[in-house]
Amino acid sequence: MEISKKIWFNNKFLNWGDAKIHILTHTLHYGGGVFEGIRTYNTKKGPAVFRLSEHINRFFYSASCLEMDLPFTKEEIKNRVLELIKINNLNECYIRPIAYFGYENMGLNPKGCLVDMAIAAWPWGAYLGGKETVKVKISKYMRLHPKSVVPDAKICGYYASSILASLDAKKSKFDEALFLDFEGNIAEGPGENIFMVKDGKLFTPNSDSILKGLTRDTVIKIAKDLNIKVEEKTITVDELKSADEIFFTGTAVEIQPIGIIDETIINNEKTGKISEKIKSLYQKIIHGEEEKYLKYLYFT
Ligand SMILES: Cc1ncc(COP(=O)(O)O)c(C=O)c1O
Repeated sequence: MEISKKIWFNNKFLNWGDAKIHILTHTLHYGGGVFEGIRTYNTKKGPAVFRLSEHINRFFYSASCLEMDLPFTKEEIKNRVLELIKINNLNECYIRPIAYFGYENMGLNPKGCLVDMAIAAWPWGAYLGGKETVKVKISKYMRLHPKSVVPDAKICGYYASSILASLDAKKSKFDEALFLDFEGNIAEGPGENIFMVKDGKLFTPNSDSILKGLTRDTVIKIAKDLNIKVEEKTITVDELKSADEIFFTGTAVEIQPIGIIDETIINNEKTGKISEKIKSLYQKIIHGEEEKYLKYLYFT
C-alpha cells in the first residue's frame, strides 16, 4: 500500500516502498525511539504546518530524555518537513517524524547504536471516525506513572500502554479509552488530552502523569480569547461525569466532543455550546483565518 510517494529517510527522499529497517533495530524491540504527530492544513496561501516549531522542539526534548543525539538540526528537520509536503504534492496531511536506535547493539543500553531518522507524510482524516460525539471508557489500565517514565516526552514504547487501553475500549464497543493517573484522578486519553465544561468554565487536568499537548495549549489560549475562564486542576471521576460538556484535544483528533463516559451520557450526546465555539475558532486558526494565530502556521 502506497499512501504517498516519498519518505525522507536518513537524509534521502526514498520511494514509499523503499523506506525499510533491519529486523534487529533496537527500537523495534525495546521501544526507545521518539516521534511526533503534526498536521498540515489548507489555507488561502497554500498548505501550512500547524505549530511546526513547537512539535520539533518537543521531538528534541523527547530525544534528550533518551540521551539520543539526533543527527540533524531543528532547522534542517523543519525544512525537510516542508519539502516533503511539496514533493508529495500534499495539501491537508499528517506528518510523522521518527528517530530510533539502529541495530549495532542488542543490549538494553542503546549506547553504540546509530540514530536513524525518517519523516513520512500522508493524508489522514478524522482520527476517531468523524462522529459528532464519541463514547469513552475509563480504562482498567493506568496512565504511566511519572516515576516510571517522563510523561511529557513522546517515546515510542509508552504507546504499548495506549494500545492496550484502546484495544480494551474497542472490545467493549467504546470509541476510545481514558486513563486515570496513579492517584485515581482523570489523566488523558491514549493520544489525547481532555477538557470539561462546568457552569460555563473550562477545566483540564494538571496531572504530572500527562503529556500536556500543543492542542491543549492552543485551546487554553483560545478560551481566554473567548472570555471563557480556564482552570488546570485535579479532576475526579465524579466531577468529570457531572460535567456539562467534555471534549478531547490532540493533533490527530483535533477537538472531539465526548458524548458518553462509561454509562454516563453527557449533554445528550451532542456537541455543547462552549465546545462548539472552541472547535469552530480552532478550525479558523488552523486554516489561517485568524490574524493573531498566523504565527503558528509554517507555509510550504
Ligand atoms: C499521550 C498523549 N497525550 C496527549 C496528546 C496530544 O498532544 P498534541 O496536542 O500535542 O498532539 C498526545 C499526542 O501527541 C499524546 O500522545
